[in-house]
Amino acid sequence: MNSCIVGLQWGDEGKGKVVDILAESSDIVVRYAGGANAGHTVVVGDKKFALHLMPSGAVREGVTCVIANAVVLDPEVIIGEVEGLAERGIDLSGRLWISENAHVVLDYHKLEDQLREDALGKNKIGTTIRGIGPCYADKVGRSFAVRMGDFRDLKVLKEKLERILPYKNKLLGALYGADPMDVDPIIEKCREYAEKLCPFIKDTTEFLHLAIAQGRSILFEGAQGTLLDLDHGTFPYVTSSNSSLLGMPSGCGVSSKLLDRAVGITKAYTTRVGEGPFPTEQDNETGDYIRIKGHEFGTTTGRPRRCGWFDAVAVKYSATIGAVDEIAMMHLDTLAGIKELKICRAYRVDGNETTFFPCNLDRLSKAEPVYDIMPGWDEDLSKVSHFDDLPLTAKNYVKRIEEITGKPITVIGVGPKRSETIIRS
Ligand code: GDP
Ligand code: IMO
Ligand code: MG
Repeated sequence: MNSCIVGLQWGDEGKGKVVDILAESSDIVVRYAGGANAGHTVVVGDKKFALHLMPSGAVREGVTCVIANAVVLDPEVIIGEVEGLAERGIDLSGRLWISENAHVVLDYHKLEDQLREDALGKNKIGTTIRGIGPCYADKVGRSFAVRMGDFRDLKVLKEKLERILPYKNKLLGALYGADPMDVDPIIEKCREYAEKLCPFIKDTTEFLHLAIAQGRSILFEGAQGTLLDLDHGTFPYVTSSNSSLLGMPSGCGVSSKLLDRAVGITKAYTTRVGEGPFPTEQDNETGDYIRIKGHEFGTTTGRPRRCGWFDAVAVKYSATIGAVDEIAMMHLDTLAGIKELKICRAYRVDGNETTFFPCNLDRLSKAEPVYDIMPGWDEDLSKVSHFDDLPLTAKNYVKRIEEITGKPITVIGVGPKRSETIIRS
């Protein structure tokens, strides 16, 4: 059984929690895109894990974790996660494999990310400053890229860095007046990275296809969300990878034809971090209520998340392009106490109503939401474990979203813990 989970909004939908739940019946969990810009939270009993590069399946003993080709990997972050998990009694040796073809995020990528955002001022993207855009740009540009497999031969890596650094110094100096970086400290750091990471590096595509041939069960874990996809999201306010489900086959070398189940994750409302259009945003008391009640502050950067009503136009679009079979909706509990809830079922753009999400920045910026208004509920949902036991208004809210999106909602989150989840058969 092979499954994929993917965010259907602008990230932070609760993917970490859902992956953790589905990992119970998986042999392997694979991260297929993005980098340390991701922040996936898993709560196990009274323990909380915030993972950035490590697949969320890591907290389950016996699950093998794979970081595939299209991930951009910050060695400091992954080493920190391996060591941090080991301190908490979770040993990854022999069950973490990192693709030799994954590209490496180095200090000059993070510096460039910061300098460019600063220089853009009010036109900034609001990135996580994790060097994601600059690293993917080097990958696409090909000539100045470093991949995980390069750590196997430090002599060749040194020659590479001796070619790359003068170029980066010239570029960052000319554009932003940055001080030049020395090659030696970077090589020294790479020596340490190589020592610690080489045991984890392999051809993960071969590994995955051997596993598929053996009938092992694989769970593919998306990072970010479909609306942040470089080609299918709200460009330019996106990340630099294919974070939709469409990035899964190219990201890890496994065709989506081999998936038995694709699950799209949403929240019962919408959040966004960083800049860019957000038609249902509530920059008011309602947004503040959701932010406080749902603890909507970034897992990676700590930034307050922008909050708003559920946007069924956006979710339907993401569910359609990813061809998901079902939806897992988190944070239904967070909406308790709001008298009237709004669900955006269409947009009005230039006087015309549309139900197809416009990725085009100009049209999306002009989109005015058309809302259904639904009565809310006051009850605490965190102890509810069966759909039938939810308040009628909460059931109707879920059913209306199913109707508009055309997808069944099979999993409902009523709290951050594993146990605070309603599974509908
Ligand atoms: P991810 O990036 O998609 O993995 O999501 P994040 O971990 O960045 O953000 C989701 C947040 O919501 C985390 O703090 C989770 O612990 C929390 N969470 C997940 N599901 C639920 C839920 O159903 N209810 C509540 N109240 N919190 C949830
Ligand atoms: P998870 O996996 C929410 C956003 C950033 C910014 C834009 C580009 O936890 O859902 P980048 O650093 O990627 O160049 O930033 O994308 N972003 C996320 N927002 N959740 C994430 O990951 C995100 N990863 C990137 O805030 O707007
Ligand atoms: Mg997150």
